[in-house]
Amino acid sequence: MPYLVERMRPFTSTIFAEMSVLAARTGAINLGQGFPDTDGPQSLLEDAVTAIRSGANQYPPGIGVAELRHAIARHQRRFYDLDPDPDTETLVTAGATEAIAASILALTEPGDEVVTFEPYYDSYAACIALAGAARRTVPLRKPDFSFDPAELRAAFTDRTRIVLLNSPHNPTGKVFARRELEQIAELAKAHDAIVVTDEVYEHQTFDGVPHIPMATLAGMAERTVTISSAGKTFSVTGWKIGWLHGQAQITAAVRAVKQFLTYVNGGPFQPAIANALDLPDEFYQQLASGLQRKRDLLAQGLRAGGLEVFLPQGTYFIVTDVAPLGYDDGVELCWRLPELVGVAAVPVAVFCDDPEPSRTLVRFAFCKRDDVLTEAAERLAKLATR
Ligand SMILES: Cc1ncc(COP(=O)(O)O)c(C=O)c1O
Repeated sequence: MPYLVERMRPFTSTIFAEMSVLAARTGAINLGQGFPDTDGPQSLLEDAVTAIRSGANQYPPGIGVAELRHAIARHQRRFYDLDPDPDTETLVTAGATEAIAASILALTEPGDEVVTFEPYYDSYAACIALAGAARRTVPLRKPDFSFDPAELRAAFTDRTRIVLLNSPHNPTGKVFARRELEQIAELAKAHDAIVVTDEVYEHQTFDGVPHIPMATLAGMAERTVTISSAGKTFSVTGWKIGWLHGQAQITAAVRAVKQFLTYVNGGPFQPAIANALDLPDEFYQQLASGLQRKRDLLAQGLRAGGLEVFLPQGTYFIVTDVAPLGYDDGVELCWRLPELVGVAAVPVAVFCDDPEPSRTLVRFAFCKRDDVLTEAAERLAKLATR
């Protein structure tokens, strides 16, 4: 790619695209990319159709339609007792992806440092590079994907500007505990850093493990940008509606960048999502309990296949270790898996600066219909006999 700026050259293709092409070519069940294969709530779909038919088809306001911003504020109050001002402290974005990109571009100068954890969601590294900033990663280690507090402390310097946190965490399924969040918060305060927290899986936690937003910790609301995604919460990943909230001056800074990325998106989807956010508690409970059941269904197949399973506390991904099967390279196995058993997955090492600790880890998505997961589990179970 001779024309591509140097800082983006390491990011020319994503493993999701490569594995999805492989899955399509081989007819494998695609558990690589994390998108649901069923639609979100019927009322949400109907509301979007109604919005299109009633003419909500031009540019919405740059910060998002008022109904959605007020619904976001109500949602944050209802679930977390947070109280963002819908007019000055919320911003609707083109998915969480744009919220992440705009935050990093708005809040870091070239040469500033972003502390994040690895493995990390792939857009983090690309956006940090695009901003000309440097990433400092802290490893999350199996089996529980905890971090070493000393390594976290060592990642902070006088150039640290942002801590980019993701909880519940993709790919590991880890939900950061209060004690861990407190350690991160203390360091962010000590270094006057802003915490950008990607909470797109906020409603997808299991076994009663609570999601704790960083902004709810003492003194953190004023230095935290909280990011969510309608795509994840309402199973409409193609709509690309996300949002963030944070202290007014920080939100204004991010908005200044966001307006020149997409300006706005998804006019008719925004009022529909506003209604969906007010869905009763049962919707949110069933989302989590339904996914927990799917997690257990897939985990059973993976264990039967001889893989070591790290049962996730949240998200819709399971990380496994393929070493017990005699494989010493997850990347290589992922290229062969469709042909071996007709299932596609992604290797965890591609989400790391240091691939060594994750060399034999492979991620499977379980946000799929029960019949698809049952078939995938049966196929994976055959790995034991290969
Ligand atoms: C951790 C994380 N952040 C952000 C996103 C992107 O969200 P959106 O589709 O709303 O841009 C994803 C999607 O997989 C994700 O896993």
